[in-house]
Amino acid sequence: MGQDLRLVLGIETSCDETAVALVRADRTILSHHVYSQMKSHEVYGGVVPEVAARGHLAVLPALIQEALKEAKVSLSDLDGVAATCGPGLIGGVLVGAMMAKTIAAVHDLPFLAVNHLAAHALTVRLSYDVPYPFLVLLVSGGHCQILIVRSPSSFQLLGSTLDDAVGESFDKTAKLLGLSYPGGPAVEAKAKKGNPKAFSFPRPLMHQKGKPFSFSFSGLKTAVRTVSQAQLAGQVDPVTQASRTADICASFQEAVKDVLVSRCANAFVFCAENKIPITHFVVAGGVAANAFLRSHLKKQAESYQIPFVAPAPNLCTDNGAMVAWAGVEKLQSGLIDSLEFVPRPRWPLEELSTMI
Ligand code: KG4
Ligand code: ZN
Repeated sequence: MGQDLRLVLGIETSCDETAVALVRADRTILSHHVYSQMKSHEVYGGVVPEVAARGHLAVLPALIQEALKEAKVSLSDLDGVAATCGPGLIGGVLVGAMMAKTIAAVHDLPFLAVNHLAAHALTVRLSYDVPYPFLVLLVSGGHCQILIVRSPSSFQLLGSTLDDAVGESFDKTAKLLGLSYPGGPAVEAKAKKGNPKAFSFPRPLMHQKGKPFSFSFSGLKTAVRTVSQAQLAGQVDPVTQASRTADICASFQEAVKDVLVSRCANAFVFCAENKIPITHFVVAGGVAANAFLRSHLKKQAESYQIPFVAPAPNLCTDNGAMVAWAGVEKLQSGLIDSLEFVPRPRWPLEELSTMI
């Protein structure tokens, strides 16, 4: 098979999305299926690991069949099988990894163990020409990091969150306000009707010297809880409650925006001062689907003359195409994994370069 026509199956099962995609090295997405378990977890206000693992097991085989059918290919047409092998909820990760290993073993195909964070960070290259090195703000339900990406296996971590991830703080805010799960899209929608200056929420670490690329969101969560108390206690009438909820969401989002934008500005300065020739600034991960945050991050990057680029929103949240694409990049670099690869619940990106 020609190098740019190589076909990779990608499997994502590290959280609450069972996702499968078939992606060709020429960047064509032949099929792309995401089965959300949202309904199963909604009642708990968060993902229950055991429920998630069982859910993946139940739908993954049919989802793979569907993806192959839609792409009009069979397993023997594949050039590689990629699965998220960490970090993530290990029960689910094992389901996807074992499925990929089995297909690879039976069809004698390269097995590609994909790091979920690497997949988020590399996805942008599935849609755009973004040469290495580039700077990534990776914002998801479990992570918040700033990274320099130098190759599919070389990541330099500049900073990360000291406590909660951004997506997690969106989800917790939504839960406090009685909004739907996952919280990100719900908070973003409500914020559109609110006043971002109604509440003055903290901007943790923003004015603190010494941690220019770190994040902290737990104080923000506590502040949201404090202003939500009256609502939780039923002391606010329904009309006031609706506009108050919108104001809390808008003020919360505004604080998140200020923190993210300031950390990224520090990273732009760091790259310039250290003569790191970043080609682009990329925002990736589920929270990157937020149009408000995207537009402010874009504005900030452009004020530093750095081209901004982000994957389409449906490629920001967990999906199989990002895993398949990371698999394509690994395959092209000859980074094939052994079937003995042990999936990892924790798998920091910096450890990728030391594994090869
Ligand atoms: O990347 P992702 O799908 O899963 C993880 O790897 O964690 O990210 C999920 C997170 C959730 O916390 C969700 O609330 C958040 O991304 N999210 C958003 C939006 N869409 C999803 N956060 C803010 N605004 C959005 N529009
Ligand atoms: Zn993710």
